[in-house]
Amino acid sequence: MGLVIVGARGYAKVVVDIAIRCGYKDIIFLDDDESMKACMGYPVVGNLCLAKEYSESDFFIAVGNPITRERIYNMLSGDGMHFVTLIHPNAVIAEAVSIGFGSVVMAGAVINSDSRIGNGCIVDTGSTVDHDDLIEDFVHVAVGSHLAGMVHIGRRTWIGAGATVSNNVNICGDCMIGAGAVVIKDIDVAGTYAGVPVRRINGLHFRAQ
Ligand SMILES: CC(C)(COP(=O)(O)OP(=O)(O)OC[C@H]1O[C@@H](n2cnc3c(N)ncnc32)[C@H](O)[C@@H]1OP(=O)(O)O)[C@@H](O)C(=O)NCCC(=O)NCCS
Repeated sequence: MGLVIVGARGYAKVVVDIAIRCGYKDIIFLDDDESMKACMGYPVVGNLCLAKEYSESDFFIAVGNPITRERIYNMLSGDGMHFVTLIHPNAVIAEAVSIGFGSVVMAGAVINSDSRIGNGCIVDTGSTVDHDDLIEDFVHVAVGSHLAGMVHIGRRTWIGAGATVSNNVNICGDCMIGAGAVVIKDIDVAGTYAGVPVRRINGLHFRAQ
């Protein structure tokens, strides 16, 4: 089975490495940036308009922006494309964990028992998701971040590199949690949060690309 990866930038380099380890050999990229010709030795064959020509292949969206990732996911799902879940062989996935379509679990990540990961999520390198966590669609748990048990992360929220979320904490959707932040209480309002413990900052917020 061939694999079409949408997006050919930095995040895609990690994805293609995992895809190869998962057994894919026939890999191509689609990217709307016409200057992109190849990624890690695999060709960028054109833009997203070509997706339907590869409808027999598996698809994966390697786009970091969660709003854009969700938009492309919904568009291609509507066209009947099949999204694959990519799990690095050196990730540790416990019993009774569910991981949605189009999600990736990278090297060194650990997901513990009874946690649920939605569609289009990124569980990044060396991050941990402990027991009974609920991670909604298009969430990014960035490199080296740690979610304790019984945590709930809302749709499209981004947990920054090395951040820690304490047990039983709920973070609503559309939040950016800064690198190294520590979240010890629920966050109910979408926005950007940073610091130890976190406070809301007037930071950048994701916009669709
Ligand atoms: C939180 C974040 C999104 C804010 O970015 P931004 O909107 O560009 O914010 P700014 O750099 O303008 O900083 C705004 C203020 O917040 C502070 N701040 C920003 N990020 C911070 C962080 N992670 N921890 C503590 N304070 C932080 C800045 O020092 C600044 O403070 P000041 O107003 O007193 O000068 C960003 O700094 C961040 O942490 N991104 C995470 C990156 C990451 O994890 N990448 C992983 C990829 S896998």
